[in-house]
Amino acid sequence: MCGITGYIGFRDAYPIVINGLKRLEYRGYDSSGIMMYNDKQIHLSKTKGKVSDLEAITNKEEGRRKGNIGMGHTRWATHGVPNDVNSHPHFSQSGDLVIVHNGIIENYDTLRKELISRGYVFQSDTDTEVLVNLIEEVKKQEGCKLGQALQLALNNVIGAYAIAVFDKTKPNEIVVARLGSPIAIGVGKDNSEFFIASDASPFIEYTKDAIYLEDEEMAIIKLGKAIQVHKIHDDSIVDANIQKLKMNLEQIEKGGYDHFMLKEIHEQPKAIIDTYRGRMLPDEGIIRMAGIDDNINKFLNAERIIIVACGTSWHAGLVGEYLIEDKARIPVEVEYASEFRYRNPIITPKDIVIAISQSGETADTLAAIKLAKSKGAFVFGICNVVGSSIARESDAGAYTHAGPEIGVASTKAFTTQITLLTLIALKLASKKGEVSKPELRVFMQEMQLIPKKIEALLKIEDKVKEIAAVYKDAKNCLYLGRGFNFPVALEGALKLKEISYIHAEGYPAAEMKHGPIALIDENMPIFVIATNKGHYEKVVSNIQEIKSRSGKIIAIVTEGDTQVKEIADHVIEIPETVEALTPLLTTIPFQLLSYHIAVMLGKNVDQPRNLAKSVTVE
Ligand code: F6R
Repeated sequence: MCGITGYIGFRDAYPIVINGLKRLEYRGYDSSGIMMYNDKQIHLSKTKGKVSDLEAITNKEEGRRKGNIGMGHTRWATHGVPNDVNSHPHFSQSGDLVIVHNGIIENYDTLRKELISRGYVFQSDTDTEVLVNLIEEVKKQEGCKLGQALQLALNNVIGAYAIAVFDKTKPNEIVVARLGSPIAIGVGKDNSEFFIASDASPFIEYTKDAIYLEDEEMAIIKLGKAIQVHKIHDDSIVDANIQKLKMNLEQIEKGGYDHFMLKEIHEQPKAIIDTYRGRMLPDEGIIRMAGIDDNINKFLNAERIIIVACGTSWHAGLVGEYLIEDKARIPVEVEYASEFRYRNPIITPKDIVIAISQSGETADTLAAIKLAKSKGAFVFGICNVVGSSIARESDAGAYTHAGPEIGVASTKAFTTQITLLTLIALKLASKKGEVSKPELRVFMQEMQLIPKKIEALLKIEDKVKEIAAVYKDAKNCLYLGRGFNFPVALEGALKLKEISYIHAEGYPAAEMKHGPIALIDENMPIFVIATNKGHYEKVVSNIQEIKSRSGKIIAIVTEGDTQVKEIADHVIEIPETVEALTPLLTTIPFQLLSYHIAVMLGKNVDQPRNLAKSVTVE
């Protein structure tokens, strides 16, 4: 959580840092701040609220915007409530050092007490102010340079961090370090300028050359010099691996849509094609996935697959369980990463762990991977963000190639994760002889029709808006689905609650009788997935049970359905497809519905309260 950005070079730093913060606001947005260095002074501006509130302050005074060196921060509060004082950047006591930090210092209380005993007085409640003063104290005690002081200080720190520190007594450098939270460094031509950011989006229009620090690495960024990367714990030099970025500016802009979420919903047909492109070869009847091909014996000999993930990615994992068990006949368990990592699970070298994460930075998922690896399991990562921590930590993996997902509510990440899980299920099924080549070919051809079907489905937006207008003031909603569509019911409920703040629950349709049915009255909207495949008659009976209790029924049905139409208050039709692929279609109306309800309620769709896109704290 939290976004950090910085610049040192020959350009005006302010527009780079402030625009960078806007691009990183998905990481946290309860307060923000910026430091600019000019006239041998550090000018600090910070405030509770969004980056636009910060801009209102900096716009008042030129001195707050001047200079070729700057660092900024957009916060998702951990230690200390979101207010002006707790916002970053933080000064050290002398005023010489300034820090921005993403992460948590777990032993901050002990360190703080120690520093207080040495005469330090703290302005904020943050762990970050403790860290910058610790660096200052070490620098004073050892009489060393900033880089060395940072290194020594970090050896006393327990926790996670991505940090950037500036020392006004040495104003031609910024020192950065990473453990558990991401940090990228953009490298300008001939080392004439450098960019620092939590991901590469803030500097994409300036340079395509980037270094992603690994855990336990720090870098001294000095103008005119090649970047030096060191290990924090033993000071050994590491080769700075400069990667070429493939992302472009257009991908991270709204492209005419009112919100990133709506843009990303509409991007799904293309994102799904990008996920299966080059992997699905229907004419040859094969699925090609290097991460699986190279390790095929491990997969074929696996006694069990354990899927670990959080939130929406966990819901995709549940669809994966249905797919892999149904097609490849390998036992699958799906675990919340946060539970798995702490419950002393039984993991053996015969297990394969599939970790799913859009950001590739979710702290609990990362910790679950480390645990699985320590027990000898083989870890396969499914990530969207290229070069992310989870992608690097996995033994093998596959990217979804969905493109940047910026709206906090996950949409195209979900459908592309399901697409990839479908390919994995089919690949394993074919290798195990559970599906024949002709069957595989037919399935792949059906998959190739999905993007067009989603495009057709996206045209029902006006109808979805009408339904949204009817139910936008509901206080509680129920989402029901069975089989492959039970996880879609969970995901539909999550989408509604996270952006409209309406309470919603997802349930397997048949479980309704075991409790939730008591909630049903004439004020309760119930969204039911009732496609013509998979337990159709059973779901129709569930719908009848709702009707008898006066619940309002909004049903997702297959084109041409007549039976449910007669009972439901509203129906949304999806195009016909095979049962295992229905989640890719049924989820679309739920995404649109949540989006339009949230817009009608005047909520901040792309930045819902209390949330952040990348959950890098446990
Ligand atoms: C919901 C949502 C979250 C994420 C979860 C995991 O819309 O976005 O529930 O799915 O925080 O994030 P990743 O996939 O980045 O590990």
